[in-house]
Amino acid sequence: MAGNHPSPNYYTHKPVLYQEVLAALEPQTGRRFIDGTIGGGGHAWGFLDASSPAGQLLGMDADPEALRVARHKLAAFETRITLVQSNFVHLEQVAKHRGFYPVHGVILDLGISSMQLSVAARGFSFQLDGPLDMRMDPGQTKTASDLINKLPVDKLADLLWRYGEERHSRRIARAIVAARPLTTTNELAQVVARAARQRKRIHPATRTFQALRIAINDELGVLETVLPQAIRILAPGGRLAVISFHSLEDRLVKTFFRQESKDCICPPQMPLCICGHKASLKIMTRRPIVPSDAEMAHNPRSRSAKLRIAEKLPD
Ligand SMILES: C[S@@+](CC[C@H](N)C(=O)[O-])C[C@H]1O[C@@H](n2cnc3c(N)ncnc32)[C@H](O)[C@@H]1O
Repeated sequence: MAGNHPSPNYYTHKPVLYQEVLAALEPQTGRRFIDGTIGGGGHAWGFLDASSPAGQLLGMDADPEALRVARHKLAAFETRITLVQSNFVHLEQVAKHRGFYPVHGVILDLGISSMQLSVAARGFSFQLDGPLDMRMDPGQTKTASDLINKLPVDKLADLLWRYGEERHSRRIARAIVAARPLTTTNELAQVVARAARQRKRIHPATRTFQALRIAINDELGVLETVLPQAIRILAPGGRLAVISFHSLEDRLVKTFFRQESKDCICPPQMPLCICGHKASLKIMTRRPIVPSDAEMAHNPRSRSAKLRIAEKLPD
């Protein structure tokens, strides 16, 4: 099994849609921002630089290693940053506790970083041999191995179908169950490759690995929980930017923004409004912003990125 050593591109996570995110959140001196997924500190660096000399940034990440890298990268801004290891599911609580309430901007750049993907021991990559881990927060007890080795075949197939949109989910789930116990990413990738038909553009294990990662980190559940929190902590006129890499995430963000931009969310057949719902935000992106051809060529990881932005309305 490969070791724990980062590959040379470990420290080179390229922030996706960098200029677009900065343009959306308008960093200025004296303003407060939250980066809920600070990762390698790429976007955060942009906020801090553009909000010099007195902008403040709260950076959160579930992964303590990401915070270590971000702290190093952002050392020049030491007096203006607060770094907290936490899942962003606790965004509102952490923001209030750390004095970042209200804030002018919140960015969530979802998924994993190139740094996490490049370390075999994290178990995120089917191209490196590592344990079946895939936890963003190494303090979490459940790992991908628990799902792979313990789930009943139908539950495993449902998971692959739901989070990976994997057409061969049943066949792959049956092959995994027959090959148990599995202990490494290489073993899993080989079982999946044998069970799934070859695909022209992506490795046959891509969707299986994506589905397991989303499930073990409850990525859709935490996204659903954080969106209303982010709106609550924004100052009127403040903005939320979300970059997603998966159609289910993007749909969730789109639906939330639509619902929260309406004064009434009663079913259309209702003659009178009984919900009392009030719009809390204005959608700034009718269609998501996607990377330019140049960005995709320079950073292939950006290919599936979609950026949506909303602005908090006055109370
Ligand atoms: C795509 S990277 C962010 C990269 C960052 N914007 C940059 O420019 O370097 C996503 C980061 O978010 C973290 N993350 C993902 N989901 C999280 C969650 N629910 N709570 C906290 N951190 C999370 C991951 O650990 C990872 O470091």
